[in-house]
Amino acid sequence: MIRISNLSKIYNNEIEAIKDISLNINDGDIYGIIGLSGAGKSTLVRCINLLEKPTSGTIEIDGIDLTKLNEKQLREKRKEISMIFQNFNLLNQKNCLDNVCLPLIISKVNKKDAEKRALELLDIVGIKDKAYAYPSQLSGGQQQRVAIARALATNPKVLLCDEATSALDPTTTAQILQLLKDINQKFNITIIIITHQMSVVESICKHVAILDDGIVAEKGEVSSVFSNPQSTAAKRLVFPEGYDDKLITSNENVRFIRVVFDGDIATSKPLVASMAVEVDVVASIVYASTKSIGGVTYGSLLLSVENDDETIKKALEYFTQNEVSAKEVFLNV
Ligand SMILES: Nc1ncnc2c1ncn2[C@@H]1O[C@H](COP(=O)(O)OP(=O)(O)OP(=O)(O)O)[C@@H](O)[C@H]1O
Ligand SMILES: [Mg+2]
Repeated sequence: MIRISNLSKIYNNEIEAIKDISLNINDGDIYGIIGLSGAGKSTLVRCINLLEKPTSGTIEIDGIDLTKLNEKQLREKRKEISMIFQNFNLLNQKNCLDNVCLPLIISKVNKKDAEKRALELLDIVGIKDKAYAYPSQLSGGQQQRVAIARALATNPKVLLCDEATSALDPTTTAQILQLLKDINQKFNITIIIITHQMSVVESICKHVAILDDGIVAEKGEVSSVFSNPQSTAAKRLVFPEGYDDKLITSNENVRFIRVVFDGDIATSKPLVASMAVEVDVVASIVYASTKSIGGVTYGSLLLSVENDDETIKKALEYFTQNEVSAKEVFLNV
């Protein structure tokens, strides 16, 4: 278990990059941390392995508080925490095999054993045939595979991925995410994925925290956060089109209701049309979208209805009776 408690980082006594962050990450989880540029994602992940010293707060891994360790103890503990990056960070003057051997050599494993283990790892990530190639001779996806092999060399318990697929095309991204998922299952490694892409979180994470301006705006299971976001930051991320002010400021006589439903309801009942017939509320669809999260299709509707309390009440009651989540939203916040 990784227990992050009240973690803050202030750079140069002025920039509060992360503020009072608390997260618990279970062993074997794939945990997504998502947020816009500058939200503090990299700072958080660099504080987790103490590459960056937090200003306050603690990071416990299996009950050991990393902020209390001395240099030597920290070096030992860091072997349990590996990291991969957007730009792969391979040594270009060394071939793939030597890149993967490096953390083993640093850990005083003899060269022969290190090479044997490195070849096994390159096999696991699917590029044993590139062992003697240099990074510049590989595609981005292949380089990230080498970086993953290198990250696994010390048998870590935790793998931190900072925008590990952001430099890759969608097909290669899907392949690398699948590899991470396989590794998570095969070795029970806890994986923390930092990303600004919802699609990455949707495709492999079980849990997610949404970072917004240095704080955790919302956290929980991916399916519940993404299907029914509560915070403004989460709503912006999940349904960005619903926050297009141009759509809504044009008419002051309407109010808005957000409806979130799962796929069964979407296909079995004409919700909006039947509301008009059954409870005499006419709603216009301002925005609609569906998303597949963990194999279940979720839909989101933004409806506009007439600007009176009675109409809003009737509409919300109608959805509640049909076991669909709905609430009035104010979009120009
Ligand atoms: N070494 C540093 N010194 C001073 N300020 C920093 C440093 N690193 C980050 N910051 C500031 O901290 C804030 C958070 O930055 P961080 O890199 O953690 O964001 P991020 O969410 O990873 O962004 P991106 O998606 O662009 O990578 C920003 O305001 C940034 O300018
Ligand atoms: Mg970053």
